[in-house]
Amino acid sequence: MRNRGLQPICPIESRFHPSEQIPLRTLQFKRGLLHELRKGNATKEQIRLHNLVQQLPRAIIIGVRKGGTRALLEMLNLHPAVVKASQEIHFFDNDKNYARGIDWYRGKMPFSLPHQITIEKSPAYFITEEVPERIFKMNSSIKLLIIVREPTTRAVSDYTQVLEGKERKNKTYHKFENLAIDANTCEVNTKYKAVRTSIYTKHLERWLKYFPVEQFHIVDGDRLITDPLPELQLVERFLNLPSRISQYNLYFNATRGFYCLRFNIVFNKCLAGSKGRIHPEVDPSVVTKLQKFFHPFNQKFYQITGRTFNWP
Ligand code: A3P
Repeated sequence: MRNRGLQPICPIESRFHPSEQIPLRTLQFKRGLLHELRKGNATKEQIRLHNLVQQLPRAIIIGVRKGGTRALLEMLNLHPAVVKASQEIHFFDNDKNYARGIDWYRGKMPFSLPHQITIEKSPAYFITEEVPERIFKMNSSIKLLIIVREPTTRAVSDYTQVLEGKERKNKTYHKFENLAIDANTCEVNTKYKAVRTSIYTKHLERWLKYFPVEQFHIVDGDRLITDPLPELQLVERFLNLPSRISQYNLYFNATRGFYCLRFNIVFNKCLAGSKGRIHPEVDPSVVTKLQKFFHPFNQKFYQITGRTFNWP
């Protein structure tokens, strides 16, 4: 017998008032918006409809060059409350850009929703004399991220990038050993930029004249390569963001030999091939010399930052 009189306890149709139902198109549009913001894009229509704004960064990845700055920025951008500035802006380290003023800088920022935070990265900031004071003048309570790798490895990575640039232009270049070691004294050549950049404590000490140490967060760039999630969770906490980046968002790509990013079921990406170059072999005695040279500076860096690494 058909029971015509009985109604379902909770008829599906009555769960939403018709006017409360969100059309599928809108949902797709919203997903599209987040996706476009994460890619650093937004259409004029999206800007108008969602009151999107260009906000000054509330956190900056100030360095260190070849520490994994791009990977860190892209991985943080997985967080729904983070919007990245795709390009390195070089506002604070480049006098010509700095003279263009803060509105020029803001104009270089991506569109975002008001509750989101914008992050930019320009690794040259860490080593450029004038930058700490300039950033302080913009926002004295800004959060500063520094990603570091074992200093000798970082120096070789730095060299490899320059070498590749020279080779692309069919130019010859010195061997790493000849740049890193002074032929006259047989000591480490502190005039070589790749060596100087790896003396992290020297640069950090300049920053500490303006910002308290609590405003910095040190990211382990070596661990970001092998096991990125715990490093990203530490950054989420530092930025006072709810923990949203999960293992789902990061998958190891055996062909690339690195973790790649999964935004959703359809959108994933690995970093460009210029990230993760094969380093040249370096004479082991030079490696040891460099490691010994960096050792006392590393100790000081651990002491100041409160973060210790297993560097030699
Ligand atoms: P190598 O090219 O020496 O391997 P930066 O973005 O600051 O220039 O740093 C580049 C480094 O990021 C690369 O150095 C690479 O090792 C590291 N890196 C960290 N995570 C990565 C990832 N998921 N994909 C590619 N490179 C990554």
